[in-house]
Amino acid sequence: MDLTTAIDQRFSVRSFKKYDIEPDKMARVMEAARLAPSASNRQEWRFVVVRDERMRERLADAARGQAFVGEAPAVIVACAVTADHVMPCGLHCFPIDVAIAMSYITLAATAEGLGTCWIGAFDPDKVRDVLGIPIDVVVVGMLPIGYPEGTAPGKKRLEMDEIVFNEKWPK
Ligand SMILES: Cc1cc2nc3c(=O)[nH]c(=O)nc-3n(C[C@H](O)[C@H](O)[C@H](O)COP(=O)(O)O)c2cc1C
Repeated sequence: MDLTTAIDQRFSVRSFKKYDIEPDKMARVMEAARLAPSASNRQEWRFVVVRDERMRERLADAARGQAFVGEAPAVIVACAVTADHVMPCGLHCFPIDVAIAMSYITLAATAEGLGTCWIGAFDPDKVRDVLGIPIDVVVVGMLPIGYPEGTAPGKKRLEMDEIVFNEKWPK
């Protein structure tokens, strides 16, 4: 699948088929994250891939009871091992770097016929507790991943001229 098609077809999947994900597919998806760019090539991302059913249920509980998180055959928990580095623009690089890698995961998953949903609504202390993640490691997000059940609902987005400005910020 080409990149434009993957970008077009990706949507937030909240219902998954029961099938497990083939290891070679999962490996290609995680390779996309490994190859993502990061500020100064810091690569602060770490990923815990959770397949155990009971653990997935506990992650769903940590995600404010979003049951579909536990119904996916796997959940990728994206973390940052360093949270201190600030770029000259004044922004911390870790959430940006990890978010880029997570975006790569979502697109690589789409190209493999898999679906994901970014989970930002979760209690990080509960996630840490479930997975034994140290206190100095930041949990940035979770991505339940699996074969989608159902079809894409269609994208609701702002119009191009609402988000792209030519030469100057509009008055
Ligand atoms: C940072 C972030 C956090 C999100 N958190 C959640 C979440 O906790 N639960 C959920 O169902 N969807 C979550 N989403 C998915 C968004 O609702 C979804 O991307 C958006 O509505 C656009 O729909 P689409 O992904 O199908 O194009 C999150 C997305 C992002 C980027």
